[in-house]
Amino acid sequence: MAAWALLVLLALAPAVAGGVLSFASYYGDHMVLQQKPSGAVVWGHGEPGAMVTLTLSGASGLIIVEKTAQVKGPSGTWTTVLDPMDRGGPYALTAEQGLENVTLQDIYFGDVWLCSGQSNMAMTVLQVANASQELAAATRYPYIRIFAVAPARSEVELEDLEQIDLPWSIPTAENLGHGNFTYFSAVCWLLGRSLYEALGSPIGLVEVAWGGTPIEAWSSRRVLQACGLPEDTGSTSPHQHLSGPQTPSVLWNAMIHPLLNMTLRGVAWYQGEPPFLSPGVEQPPLSHRALTSPSFWGTGEANAFLNTDQYNCTFPALIADWRWAFHTGSARQTEPLLPFGFVQLSTYRRRSADDSFARLRWHQTADLGVVPNARMPSTFMAVAMDLGDEHSPYGSIHPRDKQNVAHRLLLGAMAVAYGDKGLVFQGPYPTRAILEVTRGLLNVTYSQELICHQRDAQAFEVCCPSQASPCQWLLAPVVAVGSRTVTLALSGCRTLVLGLRYAWAEWPCEYQACPLYNSQGLPAPPFLLDTHPAGNAAGGRELLLLPGSMASLRALTALRRLKEVSSEIALLTAQRADPAPGQPGRPPSPVMGWSSSSEQAEAAASRRYRVTARSACRFPRIFITFPSSGHRR
Ligand SMILES: *[C@@H]1O[C@H](CO)[C@@H](O)[C@H](O)[C@H]1NC(C)=O
Ligand SMILES: *[C@@H]1O[C@H](CO)[C@@H](O)[C@H](O)[C@H]1NC(C)=O
Ligand SMILES: *[C@@H]1O[C@H](CO)[C@@H](O)[C@H](O)[C@H]1NC(C)=O
Ligand SMILES: *[C@@H]1O[C@H](CO)[C@@H](O)[C@H](O)[C@H]1NC(C)=O
Ligand SMILES: *[C@@H]1O[C@H](CO)[C@@H](O)[C@H](O)[C@H]1NC(C)=O
Ligand SMILES: *[C@@H]1O[C@H](CO)[C@@H](O)[C@H](O)[C@H]1NC(C)=O
Repeated sequence: MAAWALLVLLALAPAVAGGVLSFASYYGDHMVLQQKPSGAVVWGHGEPGAMVTLTLSGASGLIIVEKTAQVKGPSGTWTTVLDPMDRGGPYALTAEQGLENVTLQDIYFGDVWLCSGQSNMAMTVLQVANASQELAAATRYPYIRIFAVAPARSEVELEDLEQIDLPWSIPTAENLGHGNFTYFSAVCWLLGRSLYEALGSPIGLVEVAWGGTPIEAWSSRRVLQACGLPEDTGSTSPHQHLSGPQTPSVLWNAMIHPLLNMTLRGVAWYQGEPPFLSPGVEQPPLSHRALTSPSFWGTGEANAFLNTDQYNCTFPALIADWRWAFHTGSARQTEPLLPFGFVQLSTYRRRSADDSFARLRWHQTADLGVVPNARMPSTFMAVAMDLGDEHSPYGSIHPRDKQNVAHRLLLGAMAVAYGDKGLVFQGPYPTRAILEVTRGLLNVTYSQELICHQRDAQAFEVCCPSQASPCQWLLAPVVAVGSRTVTLALSGCRTLVLGLRYAWAEWPCEYQACPLYNSQGLPAPPFLLDTHPAGNAAGGRELLLLPGSMASLRALTALRRLKEVSSEIALLTAQRADPAPGQPGRPPSPVMGWSSSSEQAEAAASRRYRVTARSACRFPRIFITFPSSGHRR
């Protein structure tokens, strides 16, 4: 550690001495710069007013690109954008100012990915499943280059990094497994490695993670403002000593803002889990008692316990803000819809009555269940709720199977960031649910063929209104699984079902044994279909009534009541169901609407336009049928 610290200090020394020519801290030997179609931004420090010439030369010394830039005062920085380069290398990059020059060697062009988040992103290759195997394979990947930013916080936005844990390096067992929660991030490495294998391009990986940190700390003021959260950077939390910093914006300021001037290809993010037991930096060991005491839980920090129900604002806002900031900071070389992948929370406590994990997972999708979606375009998600690891030596909050996480991220990256249209990168998601009131069955139709790993009686729950509560969640056991459908029994719910949810638990299933997968082994993500007016707005509130006569009177009464309280419930006549995400070829399914009175038919027709406008939303609704003789015959 000490030796590294010294090296880093030496490397950074010129940056602080005014006027001396240098590259910014995160440009170094062995680095990967972003390849075409973007140009790589290169910047550094110099004597204000002086001209800096930047030359990129090939192995033979041939100059390939030459750029000049004037050092701006008073910041003393110069910036250039290299011409878009094909992948490959090695190149030398020389900056000259008068008689001074600095040269970086062994530079490659490829794709640069930023990996950020909490302790699950900081977990190193040393800590994961099959660590020795993974570390031994390191030297097979000399064209992947790794760089780790040191944990740092700041009250103000910094121009350059203050400290680096690992300067740009060729991977070795030592620098991939430097210790626990140091460097190098296993999720980042495994993703980078599979990107390299899939693309054949050099890959640059930048790790920027700190255990036990809430999203607020990674957010600029703009994000906090957009979500109505306090921006007070002076506030200290009562549990600050227990985890990473929680003060708003401090990590954005010190660890992200300095990197904005770098051209990137994508971002991977793993954040949201509770912050304790993240033996990252400055964390004294915690007793089991401290961790399980109710007062501790009540005041937990990162986002399964802090501002959980704002995460559906903070996360989409952070993504949008980082995109804008990286695009602007890189002279528009980083694309405005920078691909952004993330890991949906895994598991923590096997038995927990608290649903904050389930809510956070849902909010990670902006309450829409799958990504990309309208609020989170160009994003992708690795579902991880089936990769729990109760006996992880780092605590169950830190599952060791990061290979499957990275594999699921890779599929999303290939589909979303690299445009592989045919690739299945999402698990099965319901396209609709049909409630058969008279038989007490709910049939859920999925977007993909289902593989049932586990016939679990706990996985599905229905929201059942009762006198006591407008929504009581009752188990709805699976009675049949078809190739794309699941039939649930509603024996417990004697009134109308107003909502449906799946895998809504902190620890929903055993390792790789959630109930539903697709044939690619991707789990069906958790979902919440909610028709209840008090529920979420985006998840699908419309009810569709199929004609029938002898409908349960109670159900109808419940519906009427619902209609009064929620103007958003629409009675449709005919509307094509939208293709499910990732299933462009699915034929539209025509459905019939309520037509038991002309008044209602008119009402339905008049609402059709509005509903059609909402049909940009690809998310399912609960359809309700009242199948019995009557009008139909
Ligand atoms: C860089 O500076 C060294 C002296 O410090 C000099 O020998 C070398 O020729 C210079 N290189 C270039 C490309 O100007
Ligand atoms: C990492 O943590 C594990 C489990 O607690 C421990 O056995 C190991 O010694 C630690 N390794 C280092 C390098 O600290
Ligand atoms: C976020 O979720 C909460 C709780 O479910 C809800 O009240 C709020 O309207 C949601 N906000 C957004 C922006 O979706
Ligand atoms: C880096 O980007 C920021 C934000 O756009 C900008 O203010 C700053 O001038 C840039 N720095 C350099 C050296 O180009
Ligand atoms: C660990 O390695 C074994 C043997 O190669 C393999 O079967 C297993 O899937 C690996 N585990 C993970 C999590 O990758
Ligand atoms: C629901 O599924 C069951 C079989 O699981 C089937 O008998 C029934 O007809 C289905 N109902 C509807 C409305 O599709």
